[in-house]
Amino acid sequence: MLEMGSRSHVFLLIFVSQILAILGQTNSNDATALFALKSSWNNLPPNWEGSDPCGSSWAGLICDNSRVTSIKLSGMGLEGSQFGDLSSLTALQILDLSNNVGLKGTLPPSIGNLKNLTTLILVGCSFFGPIPESIGSLQQLVFISLTSNSFTGPIPPSIGNLSKLSWLDLSDNKINGTIPISQGSALGLDSLVNTRHLHLSKNQLSGLIQPQLFNASMKLIHVILDHNQLTGEIPESLGSLQNLEILRLDWNSLNGSVPSELSNVTSLSELYLSNNNLNGSIPDLASMNLLTYVGMSNNSFNASDVPDWFTKLPLLKTIYMENTTLQGQIPVDLFSRPNLETIGLANNKLNGTLDIGTRYGNNLTLDLRNNSIKDFTQKTGYNMNISLAGNPICDGTGATAKYCAIQISNDSFSSPLQCPAMSCNSDKILSPTCKCLYPYTGTLHFFSLSFSNLDNSSYFTTLAGSMMSAFLSNGLPVDSVSLSDPTVDVYSYLQIEAQIFPSTQDSFNHTSIPSIGYLLNRNPFQLQYFGPFFFTSESYCCFADGNKKSSSHTGIIIGVSVGCAVLVLLTFCAGLYAFRQRKMAKRAGHSSNPFESWDRDTSGAVPQLKGARWFSFDEIRKCTNNFSESNCIGSGGYGKVFKGTLTTGEVVAIKRAQHGSMQGAFEFKTEIELLSRIHHKNVVSLVGFCYEQGEQMLVYEYISKGTLRESLSVKPKFQLEWTRRLKIALDAARGLAYLHELADPPIIHRDVKSNNILLDDHLTAKVADFGLSKLLRDEDKGHVTTQVKGTLGYLDPEYYMSQQLTEKSDVYSFGVVLLELITARAPIERGKHIVRLVAETIYDSKDNSKLYQLIDPRIGPGSKLEGVDRLFTLGMRCVNESGAERPSMGEAVKEIESILELASLSKYTEGDLTSSSYEDTTQLRLDDFYNDKAFDYSGKFPSGGMNTTY
Ligand SMILES: *[C@@H]1O[C@H](CO)[C@@H](O)[C@H](O)[C@H]1NC(C)=O
Ligand SMILES: *[C@@H]1O[C@H](CO)[C@@H](O)[C@H](O)[C@H]1NC(C)=O
Ligand SMILES: *[C@@H]1O[C@H](CO)[C@@H](O)[C@H](O)[C@H]1NC(C)=O
Ligand SMILES: *[C@@H]1O[C@H](CO)[C@@H](O)[C@H](O)[C@H]1NC(C)=O
Ligand SMILES: *[C@@H]1O[C@H](CO)[C@@H](O)[C@H](O)[C@H]1NC(C)=O
Repeated sequence: MLEMGSRSHVFLLIFVSQILAILGQTNSNDATALFALKSSWNNLPPNWEGSDPCGSSWAGLICDNSRVTSIKLSGMGLEGSQFGDLSSLTALQILDLSNNVGLKGTLPPSIGNLKNLTTLILVGCSFFGPIPESIGSLQQLVFISLTSNSFTGPIPPSIGNLSKLSWLDLSDNKINGTIPISQGSALGLDSLVNTRHLHLSKNQLSGLIQPQLFNASMKLIHVILDHNQLTGEIPESLGSLQNLEILRLDWNSLNGSVPSELSNVTSLSELYLSNNNLNGSIPDLASMNLLTYVGMSNNSFNASDVPDWFTKLPLLKTIYMENTTLQGQIPVDLFSRPNLETIGLANNKLNGTLDIGTRYGNNLTLDLRNNSIKDFTQKTGYNMNISLAGNPICDGTGATAKYCAIQISNDSFSSPLQCPAMSCNSDKILSPTCKCLYPYTGTLHFFSLSFSNLDNSSYFTTLAGSMMSAFLSNGLPVDSVSLSDPTVDVYSYLQIEAQIFPSTQDSFNHTSIPSIGYLLNRNPFQLQYFGPFFFTSESYCCFADGNKKSSSHTGIIIGVSVGCAVLVLLTFCAGLYAFRQRKMAKRAGHSSNPFESWDRDTSGAVPQLKGARWFSFDEIRKCTNNFSESNCIGSGGYGKVFKGTLTTGEVVAIKRAQHGSMQGAFEFKTEIELLSRIHHKNVVSLVGFCYEQGEQMLVYEYISKGTLRESLSVKPKFQLEWTRRLKIALDAARGLAYLHELADPPIIHRDVKSNNILLDDHLTAKVADFGLSKLLRDEDKGHVTTQVKGTLGYLDPEYYMSQQLTEKSDVYSFGVVLLELITARAPIERGKHIVRLVAETIYDSKDNSKLYQLIDPRIGPGSKLEGVDRLFTLGMRCVNESGAERPSMGEAVKEIESILELASLSKYTEGDLTSSSYEDTTQLRLDDFYNDKAFDYSGKFPSGGMNTTY
């Protein structure tokens, strides 16, 4: 009965929500699916309330055209088992549920409905059962990571259908059977011609690695098959993989000899063959000049002297060849290899006298336990980590020597403590930047690594740096990253504990945590030294925006009804409020001082100010050092801008109008009221104002990194690489789209330029300085503002001619900013306008080489500039002579988002390159890019844009 009751509640709920959804921005099928999810899963984000998921921006969702296209709920602590509810979100492109250990159940065949899915990430959940065959019908899939679940059964051969798949990771499950290959009409993994990552480690795969699995048309760079039960020989066909960088076949039951064709793979950087039954002679690796890591321990190779290539491979850092019947003397040359960190040769038959010469590195670890070495030339005064225990030299009296110790010390690195005198109360943790915060804590699991010296902090510093830069370039509010306790586990996976500290508050909210989780498991990193990885975490402890208790269905019903009632009430209140406002405004209009009725001490609470504070003239004077020149950070026709520090420590920018540019008191008040309602992360927000002693001042948040113009100038303070520039373009576009489309009343900026786009600490761009310009309302009233406002070079020619101001004038100026971003040129340089320059260049040349010459060289190297053509195109569309032909800011946002997605994708591909080959290959790709003649520019631009004259 109870069960029945709660079911009918769910139906009622779904019914109610459908009705509501019709009124909202969410497609009703999608809304139904989400409500079903909501009623069956626990711990969904607290803002999953109301009837319109897209319209009310439920955390973790992204919608496009009222369809849900992305769900990212990593690390939320979700509990539930009904995956099927997701299967009707047919527009879904990205699904990331990683690190919700409470999510269990099987993947239903209906997952095959998600035809537009590109990215499926379920790392670290508790899904079990077979992977449905229908996954092979998701033709758009680029990225699958099902790592660390309990999937069983075989690998569905249908995965071979996924021609776009770049990353396939099924590691750490209980998958059994053989690795499927094509047979007759049935496809297998050998048809994955675009796959770069094949990670099937830590499963129960058995049978042969069929020779057909690899062929020369494949793009594989990482083949990771360790810790299975694979048998038979290593296929010769591996030799045809010309891009392979990491090969892990260790911990299987492979036998036979290592095929000589393997030496064909000269791109290989890390080779793991340990713990098999390989026999025959030790393979000759001398041609593999990029090898950094070789592991071949515990095989049954023929007895052999130390092979030549030990001393020949230039980049070799790590050799493990324990228990492989190596014999004879170790050549002294080996120890002078500059890059070596670890030589693990325990349990062999090495004999004679050990001579390490004088040119060995201090960080070298040499493990020679259980060999037959009788003597050691440098018995005293050597400075490396060495163990000879179990050799004749350590018999009898020798046993007490330092080099006979059994333990090889391996002190572990952890991020140095920068602020030793500090400690945190409660359960907060001290960040590397000395703040007490609630970090998001998890573990990075690396499938491979090129190095072995875990004491060398520079590797981890580099890693933390790469992570930070990925977080920041994706706009995530991360203050710092602390890494500690690197350990190589029994699977030879490097694990590192990571603490990720929040920047905007003490703790992360329900939007940031899944974005961090997504970024880490989607692997968009350019990592030196480290191979591919996955990230696991517990659910986050301390969400800034609260944690919802799992509510009963009745609770939701009541919630909805109360919600409706509140809605009605609010609508009523809003009406009342507007009425009151109008009355107040009327009164204010008659009064000589509209501010006199404001209670100064509590003015922050005056409702129409939405948080903007009132400042006394004295307060401002003090905090700007009496408006001293040294505090002045800008000036213009309206007056000057000063930097000031409030008594609270908050740093602000104060805009002080000079006498000529002051407005009437009522206009000033109206303006403050409007500005105080503008709240968007890409728009500089108003902190407060001062209206006293004949002064009009606006107090804004201070944006630390200055203007975009400065950072594009000849000597920028920091480098803006390609994706960063795209991110800045996106931020600015979003800010403007907000002003145009969401602000009420809409605001036309009228002075969009690179000098009015500011960059904060995290290089998030914010649109500034729509402040003292008049608002759209004045225009409506027919104020004869014949004076065209704006800055030369950014001025919309149509507006200039017609004096009809529309949003499209901002779009024009924004187009100029886009061209500036790509070329770093000022809008007018040597008398030539940038729009004209680009237009002429496009028309002048058949190929694009001339156009590409306009690109700011500092945008690379290391960038592929994926999408630069599209950004050029967008810029030119924005500066179309006819306003009607220009895109809206909302359209511009969408296009830049899509370019950024493309560029980040290619950046991650680039990140796959390992340190040794990274530089060269990148260079090559850039050259390819510039030589790409196939790409035709003309015809992509509407002709109207070309004829613009100045
Ligand atoms: C899937 O993507 C295609 C191409 O972008 C689009 O035309 C189609 O509408 C999408 N399907 C759904 C269900 O959204
Ligand atoms: C795979 O595992 C399942 C149990 O999960 C078992 O029934 C099946 O026989 C196994 N298949 C193979 C090929 O080992
Ligand atoms: C080795 O590489 C060459 C090209 O570098 C290729 O022609 C040849 O087929 C490869 N050998 C094998 C066994 O794949
Ligand atoms: C040495 O290697 C063989 C396989 O070649 C393995 O069976 C044996 O356990 C290994 N011995 C040690 C001490 O690891
Ligand atoms: C070391 O071992 C090799 C091969 O087992 C043998 O020929 C040689 O005589 C040994 N050398 C010494 C000094 O014992």
